Amino acid sequence: MNILVIGSGGREHALGWKLKQSPRCGRLFFAPGNGGTAGLGQNVPLHADHVDTKTVDAIDYFCRQEKVELIVIGPEDPLAGGLADRLAKSGRAVFGPVQAAARLESDKAFAKQLMRSAAIPTAEARLFGDAQAALAYVNSRETPVVVKAAGLAKGKGVVVCRDSQEAAEAVKKIMVEKAFGSAGDTVVIEERLVGQEVSVLALVDGRNIFVLDPCQDHKQVGEGDTGPNTGGMGAYCPTPLVDERLMGEIQRQILVPVVDALRRDGVIYRGVLYAGLMLTAGGPKVLEFNCRFGDPETQALMMRLRGDLVEILLATAEGRLDEVDLTWDPRCCCCVVMASGGYPGAYKTGVPISGLEEAAKMEGVQVFHAGTANKSGQLVTSGGRVLNICALGKDLAEAQKRANAACERVHFEGAYYRRDIGFRVMKR
Ligand code: AMP
Ligand code: GLY
Repeated sequence: MNILVIGSGGREHALGWKLKQSPRCGRLFFAPGNGGTAGLGQNVPLHADHVDTKTVDAIDYFCRQEKVELIVIGPEDPLAGGLADRLAKSGRAVFGPVQAAARLESDKAFAKQLMRSAAIPTAEARLFGDAQAALAYVNSRETPVVVKAAGLAKGKGVVVCRDSQEAAEAVKKIMVEKAFGSAGDTVVIEERLVGQEVSVLALVDGRNIFVLDPCQDHKQVGEGDTGPNTGGMGAYCPTPLVDERLMGEIQRQILVPVVDALRRDGVIYRGVLYAGLMLTAGGPKVLEFNCRFGDPETQALMMRLRGDLVEILLATAEGRLDEVDLTWDPRCCCCVVMASGGYPGAYKTGVPISGLEEAAKMEGVQVFHAGTANKSGQLVTSGGRVLNICALGKDLAEAQKRANAACERVHFEGAYYRRDIGFRVMKR
């Protein structure tokens, strides 16, 4: 079966790597892919971040020419733009939810209202479409709040505030200065929760829900979780923070109710449902839903997944998840993101990368590319998050040690990475 993976990050490289291991995988295409996916299949110059008729027609034409039978959509932008709905019309299998379901991620106000109506545990929140009313509200609050642009803002539209002054600044930045464009037309202002954060991803086929092993992501740039938020500096899987009992609770109180609430509104969820959760003293509460695989959680998940990913994604798209077997490598995986110096601020691109072969030769190590490109035969950096160095180990300590040792073998000018991925659950 020929397969097209849409996206260009480490997540897509990891998905492609796992798809390729399936005996059912024929030709593998990435649109547009990166320097790593080029070695796995064929990169095609199609971009789907903005979904319009031209984009859809181009992808559809390509799939007809190359006899693609399964399309896997990685990122949120095409899903929010309705790419899954439009591509499914051709009768091809498409992995990824329809636009109305992707709204769980693309419209935080909608997600909040849905959670409220289904009594799903989440931070108390108010929604505002008017900046003055939002400012009056934050000024009247005594406890810390979090201000969120309701629309998609590449993970940057959330400001965790210490006091009402910071909250007022956040409201101004999002609603008045329109730092994220129309994504900030509405803001969600919610109570600041405390606890450990975990990512719980589940495959949902419309009827069945299959939870994947829990992960913990590290969003802040600095060691010890300091500094500004990024797209993610590393993740590990499984996390001991979610045991079987807690996973059962998350499934019953969060995942099942949200899928049911959508269905009551006539929306069938098919794809990955990602719950970003805060484990508070009062139980797990939803910080956000994503309608796609997490990045870099997916890299760690794919390293541990046993079984045939082609079959798993097809079964999800076709509503027969109950037929597939999902088992996990008992080892732990630690994924460390190597970033360009300066990220998440300004950074250089086009910087030559070396040492990947040496790193990949190490026991249990796999390197996924995120922001890389081939420039006349030389691998160079092309983004903020450049590489994802993943390592398996008998426990988290061993996995982290191996991943860090592999990072030391990789070189590019200004390379930066955190050496403490997993520190929140590791004994010192
Ligand atoms: P989101 O995109 O909504 O997940 O927010 C991005 C990050 O902001 C989360 O991963 C959390 O670290 C933090 N965050 C979001 N909402 C809250 C909240 N209610 N309380 C504390 N931290 C939050
Ligand atoms: N790792 C966070 C995300 O994918 O949104």
